[in-house]
Amino acid sequence: MASQISFFQLNTGAKIPSVGLGTWQATEGLVTDAIAAALKVGYRHIDCAQLYGNEREIGSVLKMLFEDGVVKREDLFITSKLWCTDHSPEDVPTAFDRTLKDLQLDYIDLYLIHWPVRMKHGSTGFAPENVVAPDIPSTWRAMEALFDSGKARAIGVSNFTTKKLGDLLEVARIPPAVNQVECHPSWQQDKLHEYCKSKGVHLSGYSPLGSRGTTWFKSGDILQNPILKEIADKLGKTPAQVALRWGLQKGHSVLPKSISESRIKENFDIFDWSIPEDLFAKFSEFHQARIVLGTIFTNENGVYRTVEELWDGEI
Ligand code: A2P
Repeated sequence: MASQISFFQLNTGAKIPSVGLGTWQATEGLVTDAIAAALKVGYRHIDCAQLYGNEREIGSVLKMLFEDGVVKREDLFITSKLWCTDHSPEDVPTAFDRTLKDLQLDYIDLYLIHWPVRMKHGSTGFAPENVVAPDIPSTWRAMEALFDSGKARAIGVSNFTTKKLGDLLEVARIPPAVNQVECHPSWQQDKLHEYCKSKGVHLSGYSPLGSRGTTWFKSGDILQNPILKEIADKLGKTPAQVALRWGLQKGHSVLPKSISESRIKENFDIFDWSIPEDLFAKFSEFHQARIVLGTIFTNENGVYRTVEELWDGEI
């Protein structure tokens, strides 16, 4: 059994478990077993989103696990995300209530704006004509109302650059608690990391293993990176464990996705050891490349014409 999980503190005072189970591309049927396995191993943080299309299944398995006494609601940290088609202030509470209903919960620990991208309400797919100009301040005010209601115990953003986060902080009554972004040894986000730290915004890393095996996965497999493998060999750990432990030591939470019980266990066994300073320094040698480019949101006549514009040059 892996040792006890560690936490980071949010600017709300709440504690976010440092490792959460990612559920993106964890399809129906498989996601329920993965969550049951994870909670039994000791995970207490599940990262969900309406877009992933599996919140109903997750809700059913959570209900069953609560009833069986495997875990109590108050000991769990559940994140979900507002999809791009629901950015209008009047659509935000409706989308949030749908997520609550699907997850069979009466509050969410953390609710995030999934992307700084707005798509026409009710549109499906990623056709360029569906993308319209975002109005983050008005969407954020609706997010703040969810926080005020107590039904979203923390609110935040995802896929926000340093610039977009700075713009939001200028107008926010309630500052975002979290910015969830791609973060792993091959995309370390130093500038954003420092900025988040200076503003008290917690960074949460998605694709901490480089999202191998997904449709995004085009560059090299980070788990095959020779530096990572060398560090892992020296420590007697797996490359995945070292990549995740690196994240914790950098100061961010990590959200590894797995549907395999053995890998779920492996990814949680990262609390009772650490990467020593000399080996930690080797992470500066990693070639840096973003994997999730967001090309689907860009269009030469659109709101974001290029990926450089979408990411404000942080690419
Ligand atoms: P699987 O779900 O079959 O375990 P990320 O969290 O960066 O998005 O990466 C998820 C991908 O990495 C999934 O394909 C997942 O496959 C795989 N994966 C998860 N944990 C491990 C691990 N410990 N070793 C190797 N691959 C892993």
